[in-house]
Amino acid sequence: MDDIKILKGNIIYTKTKDEFEICEHGYLVCKDGKVEGIYQTLPFRLGGEPIEDHGDCLIIPGMTDLHIHAPQYTFRGTGMDLELLEWLETNTFPEEAKYKDVLYANEAYAKFAKNLKHSSTTRACVFGTIHRRSTLVLMDHLERSGLVTMVGKVNMDRNSPDELREGTQESAEETVEWMKDVQHKKYKNTLPILTPRFIPSCTDELLDMLKMVQMRYQIPVQSHLSENLSEIEWVKELCPYAEFYGDAYDHFGLFGADAPTVMAHCVYSTEEEIQRMKENGVYVAHCPESNENLSSGIAPIKRYLEEGLSVGLGSDVAGGSTENLFRAMAHAIQMSKMRWRLVDQKYPALKSEEAFYMATKGGGSFFGKVGSFEEGYEFDAVVLDDSRLESSRQMSVKDRLERMIYLADEREVKAKYVRGNKII
Ligand code: GUN
Ligand code: FE
Repeated sequence: MDDIKILKGNIIYTKTKDEFEICEHGYLVCKDGKVEGIYQTLPFRLGGEPIEDHGDCLIIPGMTDLHIHAPQYTFRGTGMDLELLEWLETNTFPEEAKYKDVLYANEAYAKFAKNLKHSSTTRACVFGTIHRRSTLVLMDHLERSGLVTMVGKVNMDRNSPDELREGTQESAEETVEWMKDVQHKKYKNTLPILTPRFIPSCTDELLDMLKMVQMRYQIPVQSHLSENLSEIEWVKELCPYAEFYGDAYDHFGLFGADAPTVMAHCVYSTEEEIQRMKENGVYVAHCPESNENLSSGIAPIKRYLEEGLSVGLGSDVAGGSTENLFRAMAHAIQMSKMRWRLVDQKYPALKSEEAFYMATKGGGSFFGKVGSFEEGYEFDAVVLDDSRLESSRQMSVKDRLERMIYLADEREVKAKYVRGNKII
């Protein structure tokens, strides 16, 4: 027997970055966890199946947060007066060091997973800390949430305080142990992702060893790239052999050539770096609010999209203040306007279609056929009730979605499906 679910409502999604697909008061059919089709009138053969009627609500694909730091959730919205390197030293590293304590981690990660579950996010690429056991606790919580996530035990063997630094050998060995633990856990929805923090945190010797781990276990990779000017200068000093920042990762085979790879930020990527990212299929996790808060800069996202790079959105909590990806969409649009006005008139501002595409299909594609309602896509759907935002005006479905980009949060999330399973 096929497992059929039918949702009724105002269905809106993007096949391409340029256009919304809209079916008002339509039927969205899920079969065995995948999208079967969208219908204005329900086909006769489906007539006997129960229908979940969401009235005038909007139904959108689940969103993908391509970059978020779970241990930083505790200090989100605070300590934003510094640039990246000082912010890491002052706020971030001391907090992450606390996750050596599994009990602290358990309490913090429980809240993180609970709030992420109730957001519009269905998929996420998540950083843990260097601590193997605490990272497993994070994975346990995320598995129970029903979300589908990729989670990384972070690697750091230089340029951080003693309490948040591993030995080189230790870092590699703990990563292998963690991989064995993960295999033993047999998670259904929680996948490991190799997570060297960024070049300043990882010696050449460590990156060499991590490449062996990556090949042995065939896992994807996440890290940070070309986020901040001082960071980029530092990478030049640390890796004189590298032609550009991303080349330092590529030198060790950790820049997309052999495995799906997502790099957060890419604010200052050079022509050579952009070219290499295209060749290697590296994903960009655009984290606009973080780039504002840490005074990092304005990434050329319109250009990346026009040139066919794969781009998704990241909240980058706690560089970003919130896991709410509606906020990330609005910040992406607003930042692109500032870039057009102040930096580069060659590329116009992002449109709401493009921001929505990045939050759904753009980032979702890192997880496979995810982030759209085209046939065969994994059934990740979010039902949004915007009655809290209601005005007395008549509004089109597109206008209502646009309003949500600026105004919605978890209060609008009425129901949520991941891979066909209802999780709220
Ligand atoms: N680069 C290295 N670590 C971090 C981090 O935790 N947040 C951000 N935004 N950038 C980083
Ligand atoms: Fe980050």
